[in-house]
Amino acid sequence: MTDFEIAGKYVSVVSEILNELPVGSTVAWLGQKHPSVGEDKFLYDSIMSGVNNELKHDFYDLNNEESGNSFKWDVHSEWKIKGYDLVLGMRILYLCDSREALLENLKNISSSNDRVVFDFMTGNPALINGKETFIKRNNSQTILPFFPELYDGEYSVQPNHSDQVVLSEDMNKSGIEMQNIMTFRDTIKRRFYTICEVSCDA
Ligand SMILES: C[S@@+](CC[C@H](N)C(=O)[O-])C[C@H]1O[C@@H](n2cnc3c(N)ncnc32)[C@H](O)[C@@H]1O
Repeated sequence: MTDFEIAGKYVSVVSEILNELPVGSTVAWLGQKHPSVGEDKFLYDSIMSGVNNELKHDFYDLNNEESGNSFKWDVHSEWKIKGYDLVLGMRILYLCDSREALLENLKNISSSNDRVVFDFMTGNPALINGKETFIKRNNSQTILPFFPELYDGEYSVQPNHSDQVVLSEDMNKSGIEMQNIMTFRDTIKRRFYTICEVSCDA
């Protein structure tokens, strides 16, 4: 259910970004199995159904074979993705478990590629001391992006380790500029999603 709702929102912006690229541009999809595998491609297919542009696509995923435009890649590693006109990482950063490692990777990737677009998802909302607070369930150590300046209303965040919360100030301090493309909240799990372009001001 959430997938359908999210896909509609993502498609509206990501297909347009792809359509606006010059013909022949190179695109790296991070956290995306090669479409020929036929798995985890609902969002990819939804995005691509709105694209009518000749582009060259490469796919990077932990569960990919190394062959042709399919590459094995681990989000927990030091990312070595260079020279693309666009890097797209949809629904992959939620697996990261260190703000510092993520910021280092975002900084490097945005200085070695032309455009870089990722999405960031808050944790799950819980009512703590009367305030809607974003947390990770089951003591999950994965990152907690929290951009309250983009959300309507008053919220809090409660991490379970010191390298977990990612604020826009953290990005700025690392020399990363975030250009917000879109923020929305889903109606089922009530998480906020932010799709944004990141660039490096160094
Ligand atoms: C939620 S799916 C997202 C797929 C696609 N990007 C989308 O939005 O529909 C997560 C993807 O991450 C991949 N994955 C899981 N662990 C990974 C890791 N450590 N490094 C890179 N990719 C990973 C999975 O194989 C899967 O394709």
